[in-house]
Amino acid sequence: TLPKTIRCTVESSRVGDQILVQGWVTSSRRQKKWVFINLSDGTTSAPLQIILDGLEGIKPELVKKLTTGCSIQVQGQVQAHPVLQGQIEIHTNNFTLIKECPGETYPLQKKVHGTEFLREHGHLRARTSGMGAALRVRSVAEAALHGLLSDQRFTQIHTPVLTSHDCEGGGEVFEVKANGKEFFKTPAFLTVSGQLHLEMAANAISRVYTFGPTFRAEPSVTGRHLAEFWMLEAEVAFVRDLEPLLDLTEFLVSKTTEKVMQSCEDDIKLLAKLNDKLEDSALNDVVSKPFARLTYTQAIELLQSEVAKGSATFDFPPEWGKSLQSEHEQYLANMLNQPVFVTHYPKAIKPFYMKLDSCSGHQTVACFDLLLPGVGELAGGSLREDDQSILGKSLSDMGLGESYQWYLDLRRFGGAPHGGFGLGVERLIQFLTHTAHIRDTTPYPRFSGNCRY
Ligand code: 4AD
Ligand code: MG
Repeated sequence: TLPKTIRCTVESSRVGDQILVQGWVTSSRRQKKWVFINLSDGTTSAPLQIILDGLEGIKPELVKKLTTGCSIQVQGQVQAHPVLQGQIEIHTNNFTLIKECPGETYPLQKKVHGTEFLREHGHLRARTSGMGAALRVRSVAEAALHGLLSDQRFTQIHTPVLTSHDCEGGGEVFEVKANGKEFFKTPAFLTVSGQLHLEMAANAISRVYTFGPTFRAEPSVTGRHLAEFWMLEAEVAFVRDLEPLLDLTEFLVSKTTEKVMQSCEDDIKLLAKLNDKLEDSALNDVVSKPFARLTYTQAIELLQSEVAKGSATFDFPPEWGKSLQSEHEQYLANMLNQPVFVTHYPKAIKPFYMKLDSCSGHQTVACFDLLLPGVGELAGGSLREDDQSILGKSLSDMGLGESYQWYLDLRRFGGAPHGGFGLGVERLIQFLTHTAHIRDTTPYPRFSGNCRY
């Protein structure tokens, strides 16, 4: 068994148990004979109620130091809360002040702070109930994703963080230098996606995934973009159609949501309340309803008909051949009120590696984006071009023929048809935690102009 100080005590405590808890005071009320304390060790959303009584022999100066933010250790017997069913509290006078916290200057006071204020205090932010809950949800969601993929016999591959290519071709790479100089003889970048490495691995191990940080020097300062974000990417060999990839994405999103709803019930409730959202209806829908599926061409027609009817207005009119703007994505997902896959985008607006096909007489690629209500694009994927001549031409049109010879080799040497997708983890957390802005899914967001801590 683990040593006592590591074991989670609060969660597993039963009435009558003698327990030792250590944590931070989230609020305290002092009376003459007792101090009423809410103590959080960050492992659950509900603070533990502690009533320090029998304080006669204890120095008043010490008792005065039990202010919000200080860390203490308490030992005592667990009792049932007299009013709130299922809740526990501890009555004791056995406590140790571990480290005091000056009440006058401690930024986190006993009130609801605005997100702007909290972003300025990232070093303390994990102590707030909302961020604590979001971090626990994230941990559970990530474990669920690993478990689900492992159950399906996917092998986790660690793709490199330092790369020599810009997978998405978006030109949003961070270049890496050592003391201002090139280190590798060739330019090196922080990865924007592990996809191309996964393609190598999939052509040997069939079902692979990677889970790690990805980086984009994304100039757009939106509620959905970070410069550093985590991506779950999966790649599967021997897939010839898009449907299995859509099915896998839907399975992962819906089962992960289900798992989070089961394991983090209190955290989800708290976050819904903090973010003024009706509890869980969007999450329930993801678990219980099949996701909608429509082609890009159908999506454009639908958006145009909404405009024609006067039901919608957009800053950018929806037009075949143009990218779907975030306002279009939001509109589609909100209108259908469920997650929606949009497939078969025009070739011209998608990266070089997507497999060419045709849809309604247009030149399109076998790809998809998954859009979620309130979040927009959560995941994107495709079949990968396996026709050497088409791929070779795309690469040489982009002037990349030589540097991507290995990518063509993969096709030359028995490369199987394959495909995969990437899912943005912070956006999934945004959805699960009802968080409006992606910067509030992590205490340490990185975005243009900000790399604090
Ligand atoms: O759509 P993206 O750019 O696709 C790829 O990178 C593919 N190579 C993935 C693959 O097929 N293996 O990014 C995938 C997802 C997006 O759907 C979005 O959820 C997230 O990554 N994402 C971001 N999240 C936060 N901040 C950003 N700047 C993001 N850019 C993409
Ligand atoms: Mg995308």
